[in-house]
Amino acid sequence: SDRYAVFGNPINHSKSPQIHAAFAVQTGEAVEYSAQCIDEDQFEASVEAFFREGGKGLNITVPFKQRAWTMAQWRSPAAERAGAVNTLYMNEQGQLCGDNTDGIGLVCDLENHRTRLQGARVLILGAGGAVRGVLEPFLSAGAAQIVIANRTASKAHELAQAFGDLGVVSGCGFKEIDPAPFDLVLNGTSASLQGDLPPIPVDVVARRTTCYDMMYGAKQTPFCAWSAAAGSGKVMDGLGMLVEQAAESFRIWRGVKPQTAEVIEVIRRQLS
Ligand code: ATR
Repeated sequence: SDRYAVFGNPINHSKSPQIHAAFAVQTGEAVEYSAQCIDEDQFEASVEAFFREGGKGLNITVPFKQRAWTMAQWRSPAAERAGAVNTLYMNEQGQLCGDNTDGIGLVCDLENHRTRLQGARVLILGAGGAVRGVLEPFLSAGAAQIVIANRTASKAHELAQAFGDLGVVSGCGFKEIDPAPFDLVLNGTSASLQGDLPPIPVDVVARRTTCYDMMYGAKQTPFCAWSAAAGSGKVMDGLGMLVEQAAESFRIWRGVKPQTAEVIEVIRRQLS
């Protein structure tokens, strides 16, 4: 069978091996997939060795996505814009190719839940790497307006500027958020890692507003709890995105897109 892996540091909590094993069974593809913890100073050498020894594809996670971007000789438009690569493979010319499936994974998860990006007004909280990765896919999917709000307002402005050629994107601090309902409010901050919540006005949420936290956990995240209390009719966490980005990587490598619904359920049950 063909060899795939995820490289990161730390890697022990990665769910990717289980997800890809489930995809392999479902699609009948002869794929084996492992998780490998890579020393900080060994990343490039490990990637080169993996492909030299016949490995077919890699997922790249924290803290190596930017270094994978630098290594890639060809990059997809999403990866190019994200400044980060989470999927590597070799093309027929033997070039190392880099893609980023995080954003498309999020777009697919939203579509699964019938949240349309076409024409949507979107509020994004946070301006770090996670947010950078979803802006090109959101704008390509037809988002009409994106407001990026961040604790450090200057980072939101910079990000808005960097994507302004692709659509209507603006940046602000949390205090400057226009307190009117959005179609989608996306939490891309890492605040919930500290059990924290970005200070945002409840007025940005109406019944029709979808609220999405890119984080997930066994317990409801603080942002999801806040969203439900604020009156959102549709609240989601990032587990669907995790499985969807894996499915998109699998499609790039194998040419078959796995079904995700059952796999999302299985992984959800294992969280608690
Ligand atoms: P990631 O790769 O997960 O995006 P990152 O690039 O370090 O990580 O970005 C983290 C994001 O979460 C930033 O937007 C950060 O805000 P600052 O730019 O002001 O640092 C945001 N963030 C982290 N902790 C936060 C908190 N407690 N409240 C609000 N925002 C927070």
